[in-house]
Amino acid sequence: MKKTDNQALVIFGASGDLTERKLIPAVFNLFCGGFLPESYAVIGVSRSEFTDEEYRIKVVFNNEHLKGKSTATEENLERFAKLVFYQAVDTKNIETYGQLKNRLEQLDQEITTKNNYIFYLATPPSLYQTIANGLAENGLNGNTDGWSRLIVEKPFGYDLESAKALNKGLLCSFSEEQIYRIDHYLGKETVQNMFVTRFANSIFEPLWNRNYIHRIEITAAEHVGVEKRGGYYDSSGALRDMIQNHLFQLVALVAMEPPVRPDAESIRNEKLKVFQSLRAYTDQDIKENVIRGQYLNSTVRGEAVKGYREEEGVQDQSKTETYVAMKFFIDNWRWADVPFYIRTGKSMPTRVTEVVIHFKPNHHHLFAHDSSLSNQQNVLVIRIQPNEGILLKFDMKIPGAGFNTEQVNMDFKYDELSNVYVPDAYERLILDCMQGDATLYARGDSTEAAWEFIDPILKAWENDESIPVYGYPAGTWGPENADNLIDGENMNWR
Ligand code: NDP
Ligand code: BG6
Repeated sequence: MKKTDNQALVIFGASGDLTERKLIPAVFNLFCGGFLPESYAVIGVSRSEFTDEEYRIKVVFNNEHLKGKSTATEENLERFAKLVFYQAVDTKNIETYGQLKNRLEQLDQEITTKNNYIFYLATPPSLYQTIANGLAENGLNGNTDGWSRLIVEKPFGYDLESAKALNKGLLCSFSEEQIYRIDHYLGKETVQNMFVTRFANSIFEPLWNRNYIHRIEITAAEHVGVEKRGGYYDSSGALRDMIQNHLFQLVALVAMEPPVRPDAESIRNEKLKVFQSLRAYTDQDIKENVIRGQYLNSTVRGEAVKGYREEEGVQDQSKTETYVAMKFFIDNWRWADVPFYIRTGKSMPTRVTEVVIHFKPNHHHLFAHDSSLSNQQNVLVIRIQPNEGILLKFDMKIPGAGFNTEQVNMDFKYDELSNVYVPDAYERLILDCMQGDATLYARGDSTEAAWEFIDPILKAWENDESIPVYGYPAGTWGPENADNLIDGENMNWR
């Protein structure tokens, strides 16, 4: 196991939803798994006033997201709570950083965190640059005594221009090596497994190209609507919230060339090249190849489900998309002319994220087949969630006379690997940052390259009133127009 220095995690946005729901539970799991170093502290920072004890009650003892865990025994919670502290700071007020610095120095004396800090930015994104500057002005951006790393939550920018400005702004205070742009999809075990499936097996990679692959589909469907995040979501939409980051990370992993080494720079170099090879859309392409939708109220299994515009925090006439489907190409040697289809949506019939590789059929059909049983195309499904696993569809002979074929499944499920603990995405990513490993974090140039592709779509939607936002009843698979994206007879999303 890699070495983990003594250190402190300073969470900006400590009274917020993400901290309570994801960050504290992730650190608690690391604590229970014995992954924390000998000297460790979590310091929560936000404007609200809490004593250390009050903050521990809020995020440890009363945290609903810790309660169900088998590890959340009274003893473990008590021991973990001793590592948690709180400091009220208004990050817009530069003078208050001095108080934070004093508190960190004092804790360093008591706990010997060795001046090693992870600063986690989980505040509204408008504060990211302010906080990075405030830390640097107070000498908290790393020095000879210790290291500093900055984890930056999504969204990383609102469009290309703001992403570039944010990168530039952060780089005034921290170096690229110190900046960890988090995308929790990269922390998912099955997302990482895609890399291993491709590059550890000799049977897939020789086929993984335009000669054998007909098309690639990626779906990230959510059953839930926008829940309590209507205010945030209405100014974001599915393209920014899911496609630019999470789905494009999946595209990069499925399409990248083998890296020269499995390290952060080599892997991230290859991912960047994928984004750089995306064929830019023209205005006409956007109209034809990008479909946006918004869920409408409906009745699902006898229950009334709200439409998007009725959700709390959403404007009555909102045009924000809760569904996007798009077709695009990657113009490089491996993928020339292979269509990529990706889609994501809220309020869909089920929750499923999967990557589906459709192989080309044999050039010559020797055997009779019933098209309801087989289309004679092999399909590899990498299921990211739920029921994580890999499924290969292939043709077999139907027993009896003749050589009729039927498609069958070879199905591996992750949970068959018994006794293997699967860490939560945030847990894995925070541990990597603690150990200085940025492999599963997004690099600045890649983030900008992904925005470069997305930006014209945002602009077209903003400026061209004629581009429709199709309604789809909540609980369905999105607008029917999205089905027309997939060319070819009898072909549809899997
Ligand atoms: P919340 O609104 O719940 O929390 C925001 C936090 O920021 C609060 O702790 C607030 O505390 C603090 N804050 C606001 N202004 C200041 C200030 N001037 N100085 C210091 N602290 C301040 O947001 P979330 O937790 O939902 O989200 C936080 C970030 O994480 C956002 O960027 C979001 O996009 C991202 N994110 C959230 C996800 C989620 O599921 N919640 C998922 C992925 C990303 P106080 O008012 O006490 O100052
Ligand atoms: C977040 C988005 O980044 O990812 C949410 O802001 C979305 O809108 C969530 O629901 C999906 O993550 P997961 O891990 O549930 O697929």
